[in-house]
Amino acid sequence: MKIVQTADGSDTLFLPELNEHYHSTFGAIHESRYIFIEHAFKAIEPDKVPVFIFEVGFGTGLNALLTDLTAKALRREVRYTAIEKYPLEKEVWGQLNYPQLAQKQDSSKEFRKIHESPWGVPAEIDDGFILTKIRADILKPIQLKEDFNIIYFDAFGPDVQPDLWSEEIFQNMNRLLEPGGIFITYSCKGEVKRNLKAAGFEIEKLPGPPGKREILRARKS
Ligand SMILES: C[S@@+](CC[C@H](N)C(=O)[O-])C[C@H]1O[C@@H](n2cnc3c(N)ncnc32)[C@H](O)[C@@H]1O
Repeated sequence: MKIVQTADGSDTLFLPELNEHYHSTFGAIHESRYIFIEHAFKAIEPDKVPVFIFEVGFGTGLNALLTDLTAKALRREVRYTAIEKYPLEKEVWGQLNYPQLAQKQDSSKEFRKIHESPWGVPAEIDDGFILTKIRADILKPIQLKEDFNIIYFDAFGPDVQPDLWSEEIFQNMNRLLEPGGIFITYSCKGEVKRNLKAAGFEIEKLPGPPGKREILRARKS
């Protein structure tokens, strides 16, 4: 595992076994904000209180941090559940520069709370922002109660982890969402689109952030 800097100055991780980065090398913070915050979190109707979000691939906690900071600025309540099979050690997440770059003021306190909150139980990170981190494998059955409003699908790419982008996994994601709920991801691969449609989603292609032509937003039919 290596920390590398991306084009907007924010860090990401490089995993040599898979030859994969955790984020786009064109800008980790820029990519996360553009895809997950701008095109999913901010696209949710104001009458959804709180907003229930499920993230596949908690990783560095960057999406959770950006969602928390945005929720605070917009005064929106959030219940954020994230699944992760391989949690990072403090030696790794503690070196990432997200708290210095995510907004003007330092957000180290929030980032630390996000990472140090226990696994498997809800934890209050900020007023109105409750995080539940689940240490589990998305390929195995999991029990989750909420009808989520949004799924941030942020697994490693379909070329390196094809099992995570299958019709069966997308059917599970579909079951977790409320009708009309948003599924958002950075991959616009043909097979991903086909599997999403077969799993009961209506898909929409959106222009991508730097380095990516298009991204996918899907809604539960
Ligand atoms: C692209 S990275 C995640 C990026 C993350 N959202 C972030 O902001 O850092 C993919 C993540 O999925 C996790 N992962 C891989 N296989 C998994 C599985 N079967 N179940 C749950 N998580 C998995 C990886 O450990 C990694 O943290």
